[in-house]
Amino acid sequence: MRGVAALLLLVALVPSCLSQERDPFAWLYNSRGHGFLQADSAGGECPAECDCPPTFPVAMYCDGRGLTVMPSIPARMKYLYLQNNAIRAVPDSAMVNATNLVWLLMQHNQLASDAIGEQAFAKMQRLDRLYLHHNNLTRIPPNLPGSLRDLRLNHNRIEKVIPAELDRMDNLTILYLHDNVVTDVGTSLKALKSLILLDISGNHLKTVPQALPVELHQLYLESNSIDTVPEDFLAHVPQLQYIRMAHNQLTDKGIPHNAFNVTGLVELDLSFNKLERIPLVSTTLQHLYLQANQIKEFTLGSFCNVVDVSNFSKLRTLRLDGNEISRHDIPTESSQCLRQASTIEV
Ligand SMILES: *[C@@H]1O[C@H](CO)[C@@H](O)[C@H](O)[C@H]1NC(C)=O
Ligand SMILES: *[C@@H]1O[C@H](CO)[C@@H](O)[C@H](O)[C@H]1NC(C)=O
Ligand SMILES: *[C@@H]1O[C@H](CO)[C@@H](O)[C@H](O)[C@H]1NC(C)=O
Ligand SMILES: *[C@@H]1O[C@H](CO)[C@@H](O)[C@H](O)[C@H]1NC(C)=O
Ligand SMILES: *[C@@H]1O[C@H](CO)[C@@H](O)[C@H](O)[C@H]1NC(C)=O
Repeated sequence: MRGVAALLLLVALVPSCLSQERDPFAWLYNSRGHGFLQADSAGGECPAECDCPPTFPVAMYCDGRGLTVMPSIPARMKYLYLQNNAIRAVPDSAMVNATNLVWLLMQHNQLASDAIGEQAFAKMQRLDRLYLHHNNLTRIPPNLPGSLRDLRLNHNRIEKVIPAELDRMDNLTILYLHDNVVTDVGTSLKALKSLILLDISGNHLKTVPQALPVELHQLYLESNSIDTVPEDFLAHVPQLQYIRMAHNQLTDKGIPHNAFNVTGLVELDLSFNKLERIPLVSTTLQHLYLQANQIKEFTLGSFCNVVDVSNFSKLRTLRLDGNEISRHDIPTESSQCLRQASTIEV
């Protein structure tokens, strides 16, 4: 069983572009009893504290070994696994040879911002994934390469995001910043022309970030201190499908009349706020979460303006439980408007 589990884990870790090689797991079966730490047949070096599987000469596994300093990194390496250690510093000198890295996984270490070199990541022009979540960073590391697509910085102590830190990242599609202490991102997100998913939940934001990335599909803002949304903030993000703003401080006053009346939205989560009315939403919205607010009235006009054979709400899920209304407050003509709703909870 353990062997199977280990193998499954390994499969999950192996970059898919390598999976086309002839039996990529041969090293696993063959190296039993000969030690994992041998150099590959081409004589590639490997630091003693890491594993460099001979049949994956471009991957180096140093995860979960109690490391406190960076190992030396042979220049051939593309995939470097350093997660679950106790590394605090990444000096520029540790990374001089690491110019070919594509994945650098350093989550669950003790990285401190003042111990990260100004140029530590700058020369990695092929870097695609950088995982730095669950560390002790107070800002986004400087000079990150523009090649990044997936940057994970959640569960650190980052307070501020400034434009210079993100301004070259045209290819970034995923940015995890959740569970930090960010109070402000200014206009820094605007530069992220390819960003599809932004998770900045669990921070200290007071407003929705201005200048959202134009390709954004998913915006996660829950568990902040947001009390208002800007009037036309969705006009600039036509691809946006999912907005999660549960556990904020939203009141009716903070939501301009048409703020959420946009086509394209599939899911809107405004649960655990302080709303007293159901905000106006587009007939194209499919899932609306409003539980645990202070809603006192069921306003059918929030969903349908006119109702006829082709004008009705596409809403499928509507949660209103934990508010100040009951089933009796839902007018009977609602069934005409909310004809696709399979779940209405009050
Ligand atoms: C970089 O590579 C050179 C040549 O292989 C080697 O001597 C040096 O120790 C390496 N430095 C680091 C920090 O890995
Ligand atoms: C994080 O940084 C703070 C202050 O810089 C320090 O007191 C704390 O010990 C660090 N935590 C870890 C887990 O390294
Ligand atoms: C961004 O991606 C494109 C297409 O894959 C690539 O040609 C370009 O070099 C990348 N940009 C950077 C800065 O790596
Ligand atoms: C909601 O938006 C649509 C499309 O922009 C518009 O036609 C409609 O009048 C708006 N609804 C209300 C009640 O303002
Ligand atoms: C209702 O549907 C008709 C098409 O049958 C359309 O012309 C009209 O603009 C719709 N009205 C509203 C308010 O959406």
